[in-house]
Amino acid sequence: MVQQLESAYKIMHEHDVIVVGAGGAGLRAAVAADEAGADVALVSKLHPVRSHTGAAEGGINAALRDGDSWESHAYDTMKGSDYLGDAPAIETLCQDSPGEVVQLENWGMAFSRDDDGRMSQRPFGGLSFPRTTYAGAETGHHLLHTLYEQVVKRGIQVYDEWYVTRLAVTDHDDPEERECRGVVAYELQTGELDAFAARNGVILATGGPGQVYDHTTNAVANTGDGPAMAYRAGVPLEDMEFVQFHPTTLPSTGVLITEGVRGEGGILYNAEGERFMFEGGYANNVGELASRDVVARAELTEIQEGRGIEDDYVHLDMRHLGEERIVDRLENIVHLSEDFEGVDPLEKPMPVKPGQHYQMGGIEVSENGETCIAGLYAAGECACVSVHGSNRLGGNALPELIVFGARAGRHAAGEEMEPASVATGPSAGIDTADVDTPVSPGALGPDEREAVADGRPTEADGSRASDGDARADGGAVAVAAGETVERALEAERRRVDRLLNGDGDRRHAEIRSKLQKAMTRNVNVFRNEEGLKQALRDVRAAREAYADVGVSDPSSTFNTDLIHTIETRNLIDLAEAITLSALARTEFRGAHWREGYQERDDENWIRHTMLSWNEGTPELYYTPVDLQGENEEYEPQIRSY
Ligand code: FUM
Repeated sequence: MVQQLESAYKIMHEHDVIVVGAGGAGLRAAVAADEAGADVALVSKLHPVRSHTGAAEGGINAALRDGDSWESHAYDTMKGSDYLGDAPAIETLCQDSPGEVVQLENWGMAFSRDDDGRMSQRPFGGLSFPRTTYAGAETGHHLLHTLYEQVVKRGIQVYDEWYVTRLAVTDHDDPEERECRGVVAYELQTGELDAFAARNGVILATGGPGQVYDHTTNAVANTGDGPAMAYRAGVPLEDMEFVQFHPTTLPSTGVLITEGVRGEGGILYNAEGERFMFEGGYANNVGELASRDVVARAELTEIQEGRGIEDDYVHLDMRHLGEERIVDRLENIVHLSEDFEGVDPLEKPMPVKPGQHYQMGGIEVSENGETCIAGLYAAGECACVSVHGSNRLGGNALPELIVFGARAGRHAAGEEMEPASVATGPSAGIDTADVDTPVSPGALGPDEREAVADGRPTEADGSRASDGDARADGGAVAVAAGETVERALEAERRRVDRLLNGDGDRRHAEIRSKLQKAMTRNVNVFRNEEGLKQALRDVRAAREAYADVGVSDPSSTFNTDLIHTIETRNLIDLAEAITLSALARTEFRGAHWREGYQERDDENWIRHTMLSWNEGTPELYYTPVDLQGENEEYEPQIRSY
């Protein structure tokens, strides 16, 4: 920690690179930035090994073997994305993933092994080669521990249980002229708010926003803090309508049952004992190993047409694999099914149904993790590069974390890198759009903007003056950097004070729960216009209720009431972004199914949906999808499995 006085501004912590979030992407970014010579700090609301990456089960796609190639991985990923991923980003993922996996092996990650000693690989949905490398059904757990060991070994400073609640961004009307100078974070143990200045850059690696829904595989901590803060600071959110619903989650809790079960040969049955993926004609070639959007829709169709079990779920049977193979490769699944559902999968099929699992969209970034705000980066699930387009393939999330985490870390540390080819920022837009909404989206007014922290100084906090200095050279930059961070800290102190000591009497739990139910009801696998409009009304109601929110627990030690209240505001903005984007896209592509629009519309919709928080008013525009790869242009094909 560096204690430093800059003019009148006292910055409590200062580092070259500040990584927010310590899951797979954050840890990998921190290690890469450290290797590139930067002084790095990780700031995370959880202890690193409690990050949600630890819940990832199935594996890491990487073309490692004879007969496989990065080109084949890229082709599968582009097809899986339903031709909405950007080719340069997809090809970067597939080219870099093998090297990253071998790096993990060299760092000691306990991969499952074949008899000949090679890292095991298994089939996963939508893959034309069994390229999913795994460590039992606990791949994320081993990944997290391997990376954390590297962080500890290198002596990287970790501020764990510090919740970053605000970005410190300079003021400028044009978001592409803004700069990120650091963050403000709240220490859970003491209730202190502190400023963290970043000399080079801030990397957001905060994970996904699964808590927008009430049936999700995501941890309670997954509240989309990074995307919400970046959005309010002026970075566009990309392709937010594309939400992945994993086909096999336990009905009572949402706990994930890995796709690895189907990869090893597990079979889905309906209440009539039919192997419906084949018998229902949903995926005549690969059945259970179709991509996730296809399998999730098939299951829900079976349930809605009366062939579900207890009208709620289907069965996933792996008994025929035999105890030895199950225990060797999927032992964790036996425990999860027994502990959370009371079903021993060695004896009986497991009940499963689709549940929210992953957000394909997120903070718009380049392949080097850059956003349109200088000094602000993002990587992992909170970002959208875009490699997943409208549907992510299973096993492509973990390589995304390590490949793009490493790239963001190196770039933020100042390492010379090829300039990115994916353009970012509103100036990359090709078209704006209006969407017919039943209520006005966005902030309720300037007071709310200031109260919820869009990171920039505002008229409301009376501190807009002199930010022009932030773009001057030399000493003026240093002073202005301190000013920006200090002002963000002051604004955040006012917000927390208002939440703790104001007279708001609505509670986060009620607001969050209603929001989650509304999203699960109307912005799920099957969508229609009236449902999406109703969801927007419900989000607006949540926003209005939140204007009167207050925290009842006054304590300054592990005040989860306060933390959940701050998180809930992030969920509201992201729920709105998902729903607005879904309402705007009038076609059926990947995970986005729309009643009344049952075709993929390549003529009008091979484009990314962008949403930008324009002084509190969401603005919708589009950017082109880049289908030009290194060796070929990807030609959209009919997508069948
Ligand atoms: O099914 C799973 O194991 C999840 C993998 C993934 O989301 O990539």
